[in-house]
Amino acid sequence: MTFQSNDPSASVLLELEDLTTVFPTRRGVVRAVDGLSFRLRQGEKLGIVGESGSGKSVTLLSILRLVPYPGQVSRGAVRFRGEDVLSKSAMEMRQIRGRDIAMVFQDPMTTLNPAFLVGEQIRESLRIHQIVPRSNGFLSRIYDPLRKAAEYRRVWGAMSDVGIPVPEQNARRYPHQFSGGMQQRALIAIALACEPQLLLADEPTTALDVTIQAQIIALLEKINREHGTAIVLVTHNLGLVAEFCHNTIVMYAGQMMEMGGTDAVIEDPKHPYTQGLLRCLPQVTAKRDKIYPVPGLVPDLADLPPGCPFSPRCEQVIADCSGDVPLKQLADGRMVRCVLY
Ligand SMILES: Nc1ncnc2c1ncn2[C@@H]1O[C@H](COP(=O)(O)OP(=O)(O)O)[C@@H](O)[C@H]1O
Ligand SMILES: [Mg+2]
Repeated sequence: MTFQSNDPSASVLLELEDLTTVFPTRRGVVRAVDGLSFRLRQGEKLGIVGESGSGKSVTLLSILRLVPYPGQVSRGAVRFRGEDVLSKSAMEMRQIRGRDIAMVFQDPMTTLNPAFLVGEQIRESLRIHQIVPRSNGFLSRIYDPLRKAAEYRRVWGAMSDVGIPVPEQNARRYPHQFSGGMQQRALIAIALACEPQLLLADEPTTALDVTIQAQIIALLEKINREHGTAIVLVTHNLGLVAEFCHNTIVMYAGQMMEMGGTDAVIEDPKHPYTQGLLRCLPQVTAKRDKIYPVPGLVPDLADLPPGCPFSPRCEQVIADCSGDVPLKQLADGRMVRCVLY
């Protein structure tokens, strides 16, 4: 499978192959992620879009092996730098999380600990991964002011990287003393303190107003440019992806519906679902004042139709849609799951 990237010669950092994550429910087993495959190269910015319930968060949680019980990965592989993540021990996973792959969640206040100073929370991730080595003194195991000072210099560095002003002072504040935008910046600072190669950002701007949203996206842009951090941005907002990502995956009911270079997907969407999502975008140029949502309800995973899961809402539905609908590759390298192609 070819995959357009900003730099096709960059090495593959993350690879998902036929990843399937299931949840047992009273109404049967649901596949929250259903046979998802893609590759992400070093330094790449990838967007995953889809309405709520399409399996975006579960995809990210599966990569980090954080799927909540009783959910589980039932099939497929996740490889990070060529190594199989799914067969790592719990101990190895703790090393990978935070140090190599960091995640930023949607709602900062549910992830920041209200009882600890912001600076301490950033320092904690440095300590877990022993980023700053202990100094040589014979008491250093119990008392190591040099190490603490060195850690704090990194904490302040991470804070100013994410645009938190006067880090020396703000490090000594509690999360509730920060605005929503500043809390999200603090979370990104925690994620970036160990300089991970991959940042998974799950709707990092959804809880924020538009101005702050733009600032956070600009911040992710800067991190990608200056540190070469690969970023997976999960969002229901195709507009954000259009601004930010090299490549885009459109998900529906746990499946990849379309994948390609972001410009191609936005300018010439192939899948009727992608076309529907694009129509939902408010357009400054268009002479209309209404936003059109994709008609119909988001799917019930326990009760999907045979064939294409989008078919009940699709305007272009034909008889073939109830049969097997495989992913196909088009001439421009794009992948589409639709009988029209
Ligand atoms: N903790 C859970 N228990 C049971 N089912 C879940 C759980 N989390 C997610 N799911 C199922 O997975 C689907 C996809 O969830 P999610 O990945 O969170 O969607 P998205 O992030 O795209 O909004 C949900 O619609 C639900 O059916
Ligand atoms: Mg989600």
